Amino acid sequence: MALIDAPPLTPLPPAPALLSVSDLEVTLFTRAGQLKAVDRLSLEVAAGETLAIVGESGCGKSISALALMRLLPEPPAKITGGSVRLAGRDLTRLSEGEMQRVRGKDLAMIFQDPMSALNPVLTVGRQIVEVIARHDPASHRAMQARALELMRKVRIPDAERRFNDYPHQLSGGMNQRIVIAMAIACQPKVLVADEPTTALDVTIQAQILDLMKELQAETGMGLIIITHDLGVVAETADRVLVMYAGRKVEDGTVDAVFDRPLHPYTRGLMGATPSATLQPHGRLAEIPGSVPALADLPAGCAFNNRCPIAFARCFAERPGLTMPAPARSVACFAVEQEGVRHGDPVGA
Ligand SMILES: Nc1ncnc2c1ncn2[C@@H]1O[C@H](COP(=O)(O)OP(=O)(O)O)[C@@H](O)[C@H]1O
Ligand SMILES: [Mg+2]
Repeated sequence: MALIDAPPLTPLPPAPALLSVSDLEVTLFTRAGQLKAVDRLSLEVAAGETLAIVGESGCGKSISALALMRLLPEPPAKITGGSVRLAGRDLTRLSEGEMQRVRGKDLAMIFQDPMSALNPVLTVGRQIVEVIARHDPASHRAMQARALELMRKVRIPDAERRFNDYPHQLSGGMNQRIVIAMAIACQPKVLVADEPTTALDVTIQAQILDLMKELQAETGMGLIIITHDLGVVAETADRVLVMYAGRKVEDGTVDAVFDRPLHPYTRGLMGATPSATLQPHGRLAEIPGSVPALADLPAGCAFNNRCPIAFARCFAERPGLTMPAPARSVACFAVEQEGVRHGDPVGA
């Protein structure tokens, strides 16, 4: 007979995150040498949680997302370190065949331009059916019914009629809804959306973001939204991760980071003065200069040539991440040195 289980003496550790990326490294093998497009990136996403990844163009946001999906342009890019654990399984160690079963099923991605994700010569209904057929095959009739249900779920008006339309017959916003329907068709555990609304006009953007939040609330999926728009971060995310030149330079809850951005880059993105925290339309503020090319990152901190408070050490060494508060990290010698402004708490 089974022994009676003794009660645990210590509380169980918290459930592991749904998606847990640890020290992910992506190297670009180029004529200019081996460049680190993603440098020891770590992040976690829990079920039902939304993480926003922000940073200017060229910071490595898309390469990071493609690395998670194992969709890097290979060559020149390759995952050269770290792990991507989805529900405990390290995706970096899967064969391409195994990864194909994960992609679209457990982990799905939406890109900026819906047209790039759609096949122009297939009807939109058929394209949703094909995703279902790949991962959850059923009778044709059942799959069609499911596709139609998904079209209604993403609020395509008059879905029955639209089912047989081709992408060129739908607006950009409607096509992005179709792409979302394809992405959620098999109820992914985590959805990665890379600038999902950037190509759409402002009123449509808000509708698409609302739709994603609604679907998330329903299914409990984890969501990673990549954006250069702080308005999107404020409206949709629980946590935010700021990237610069392939590295995480700051992260924390949206409340904590918006309330008190620590890294000079984050502060720059939000506008230097408190009244300008959000620029009109939520766009990132202009920071003088531009993101350095990976081939000529400055020595020391990659942000030193644009930083208003850089000092000698910043030109000699690269700052690592420190944790000024629980669930908060920042890579900046100035923050390290000064403490966090008079020791004020910076937690959530
Ligand atoms: N296929 C590629 N070949 C070489 N370099 C690339 C390629 N794709 C992106 N890069 C470089 O990798 C860096 C990060 O790019 P990306 O992830 O697209 O930035 P973001 O999405 O943040 O705008 C940039 O310096 C970019 O020039
Ligand atoms: Mg990008």
